[in-house]
Amino acid sequence: MAARDAAWEALRDEFALPPASMENLRQLFLTEARAGLAGSDSSLRMLPTYLTRRVTGEETGEYFALDLGGTHFRVLQLRLEGGGRIGPVRQRQFKVPDAAKRGSGAELFGFLADCVSAFVAAECGGEAAGDIGFTFSFPAAQTAIDAGTLVAWNKGFAAADAIGADVVALLQAQLEARGLKMRVTALANDTVGTMAAAAYSCPGTAMGVIFGTGTNAAYVEQAAKIGKGRGVEDGSRETEMAINTEWGNLDTAAVRNEHDAAVDAASENPGLQRFEKMVSGMYLGELLRTALAAPAVRAGFSRTCAAGFDAAFSERFSLHTSTLAAIEADATPDLAEVAHLLAEAGVQGTLADRSLLRDACAAVSTRAALLAAVGIASLLELAQSEPRPATVAVDGTVFERYPGFQARMEGGLEMLLGPERARDVSLVLTKDGSGVGAAIIAAAAAQARGETQ
Ligand code: BGC
Repeated sequence: MAARDAAWEALRDEFALPPASMENLRQLFLTEARAGLAGSDSSLRMLPTYLTRRVTGEETGEYFALDLGGTHFRVLQLRLEGGGRIGPVRQRQFKVPDAAKRGSGAELFGFLADCVSAFVAAECGGEAAGDIGFTFSFPAAQTAIDAGTLVAWNKGFAAADAIGADVVALLQAQLEARGLKMRVTALANDTVGTMAAAAYSCPGTAMGVIFGTGTNAAYVEQAAKIGKGRGVEDGSRETEMAINTEWGNLDTAAVRNEHDAAVDAASENPGLQRFEKMVSGMYLGELLRTALAAPAVRAGFSRTCAAGFDAAFSERFSLHTSTLAAIEADATPDLAEVAHLLAEAGVQGTLADRSLLRDACAAVSTRAALLAAVGIASLLELAQSEPRPATVAVDGTVFERYPGFQARMEGGLEMLLGPERARDVSLVLTKDGSGVGAAIIAAAAAQARGETQ
């Protein structure tokens, strides 16, 4: 029993995020965000999006939307009807092969254009023309609503020659090469799409946030606070612009533990996306896998169980965040579901093993939810002008499906904001901002050009 207690104490201490650390991280977030907005060196890039009008719900027309974010690519066609209403959505989803993720830019964008061709053949009788909103869920430095250069890949993508290139031009060229008469008129991060999708039916939406494979947030900033040369020029009539914070890259050195450092060091992008590596779905399983292999933690499990972990989870990313979610969802007194999940992986564990494993999952996921709360509380403070109560549009599998994640986040918000202000913040699940949202942004861009459908 003593070894089990020692293992639990090690995990609890390593993954603890006391209120004082949350507060310090919030201060760091604000400092970094202000530096990023000004265009100074910062772990928060605070990328301008050139979306300078708020979505009203009155945008109308027929649009295509393309969504590249992680494991899948989606092609959608939909009609915005105005009054916050969206007509029927036609869509197809394609798995992005590893070869396309890690090949050349031309291969990746050629694959995307092939998917669009397949969609047009199957859904549009072989011919299609029109505007496309392109959700690209990676950091892109935009120079216009329809142009942006890739800053860095993450989430397992690595088409190195695309870095520094305009992703809209890459896609447009591949579409044209296939004779497709469609034009990419808006580029949007998924967080901006999520904010737009929520604002279509709830115009006061303060920000769009993703807790999925990766994590990030966008919000609306006053033009006066955005540094020169960052999208809002002198003499411009624009008063505000949506900002893609790319908060996944926040410097978390002050709150990192040895497991975070190990996961980062072994990743494809060491030193980058450190907040994301503590919060998002791609990494929570990997963090737990790394922690379970540490001698002080391993010693808390029975020998058979520890040997089972070694065999079942020897490969990087072999323990999935969805498994942690299933373990935490087990409400049976003898953790029968955990026993079943372990047996499927070829691991045998006593009840004490299973309960330590469940506590370990809770340690990793609770810290992630508290960090998520730090991000939201910081952004609410930064966007002081926002209306209250504040609607925060949230999407992503971790937020949607991980048991208790939202409640723990709300607990964190209460710690940081106090109960009264926290009650004014609504976290609203906004499904499919990265699909529908991109179409709405393409419609807003058409309105800005004076074109209406
Ligand atoms: C990307 C962001 C994206 C987030 C959520 C991160 O890895 O850098 O651009 O918004 O994932 O998909």
